[in-house]
Amino acid sequence: MSVECFVTGGTGFVGQHLVANLSAKGHTIRVLMRRPEQLSALREQVANLGGCASRVFAVAGDLERDNLGLTPADREVLRHASVIFHLGAHFAWGLSVEHSRAVNVEGAKRVALLAAEQKSRLVMIGGYMLKNQEHLQRIGIDPRRPELTNWSAVYRRVGGYEGSKLEAHFATLALMSAKGGEITVVHPATVCGHSRTGHILEGQPLVALIRNLVQGKLTAVPGTAKHWLPLVTVDYLAELVAVCAFDPAMVGQELLALDDHTPNLRELLMQVAQPLGLTSPKHHIPLRLLKLLLAIPPVASFLHTKPEALDFIQTTRFDTTAVEQFAKRHEIAKPDIRQSLQHTAAFVNSYCIAKG
Ligand SMILES: NC(=O)c1ccc[n+]([C@@H]2O[C@H](COP(=O)([O-])OP(=O)(O)OC[C@H]3O[C@@H](n4cnc5c(N)ncnc54)[C@H](OP(=O)(O)O)[C@@H]3O)[C@@H](O)[C@H]2O)c1
Repeated sequence: MSVECFVTGGTGFVGQHLVANLSAKGHTIRVLMRRPEQLSALREQVANLGGCASRVFAVAGDLERDNLGLTPADREVLRHASVIFHLGAHFAWGLSVEHSRAVNVEGAKRVALLAAEQKSRLVMIGGYMLKNQEHLQRIGIDPRRPELTNWSAVYRRVGGYEGSKLEAHFATLALMSAKGGEITVVHPATVCGHSRTGHILEGQPLVALIRNLVQGKLTAVPGTAKHWLPLVTVDYLAELVAVCAFDPAMVGQELLALDDHTPNLRELLMQVAQPLGLTSPKHHIPLRLLKLLLAIPPVASFLHTKPEALDFIQTTRFDTTAVEQFAKRHEIAKPDIRQSLQHTAAFVNSYCIAKG
């Protein structure tokens, strides 16, 4: 069955793979685009990723504008959307509170309102830190009483991007609940490149990590032997998101998209180093010390990262039973994360570092 879908963030890394996946399944995809003149480039990319370019259309708009900046004509067209996928976000370190809230929190609320008003199913992309209960508690969020959160304090602790993703999640759930809308939330771990091609886009945290290793800037492993950066490949994630949108049992559910077989950070760096013929670091540097170093602007710009990026490197393990069962029920095969890492490293080395 072919259905109409509306996707925000469809030009981004995860979004491109989702649009390719959905269009390959025969759905019609309308993508919210700040620069709709770039539709032909997006279609080309969707075709390269195995999608059906002719099923992809642009809708001019912006998460920051009232009613998403939609024209009345586009608003009418979107009424036919059975599913709205919300992936759009400003994903970067060092964002101001004002800006990250304007795009990521207010934007999410606008998309949720549209979905609720026209009774489209909303599939929202959150983040896996929302499933780290210790972390939420540490930064002052009680998921059962999010309305009691001191958001200014949260933003001060975790930075603009992470703070706004957390706030957007609870604000969207509250809005959908008040309006009686249908919502499913998928929480991805840090996204790894495509399991076979290694395709990944500039700006992704894993690209910065691989680049630092290649350029000899990563001479110690952040954290201890127990620290890891949980990953999920982009193709497995796109398939989970696409499939859960049409599963009635997933209404009102949250799915943690995280590969529990992700190695610890030291082995992750070994997997990345191996196909590139590099030696990976063996000694560790305490996260606290690295955080202090990254607070020095020249160090942060040398390593192309910010202290807030280190929050995602952790020792917490997650319960992935729900996603394993979901994938089994829908016969979605989970790619080998070590091989995917090697392909990603080769892709980054050829297309991101060679170009940069
Ligand atoms: N990648 C990860 O490791 C990861 C992990 C957990 C969760 N997530 C979440 O997954 C989602 C997708 O992430 P991603 O890695 O694909 O991000 P990305 O590559 O940075 O893409 C972001 C997308 O959001 C769009 N966007 C940004 N500001 C906008 C605005 N004001 N109006 C309309 N569109 C706007 C961008 O459009 P333009 O082309 O116009 O810039 C782009 O399509 C995000 O919600 C992110 O928080 C990602």
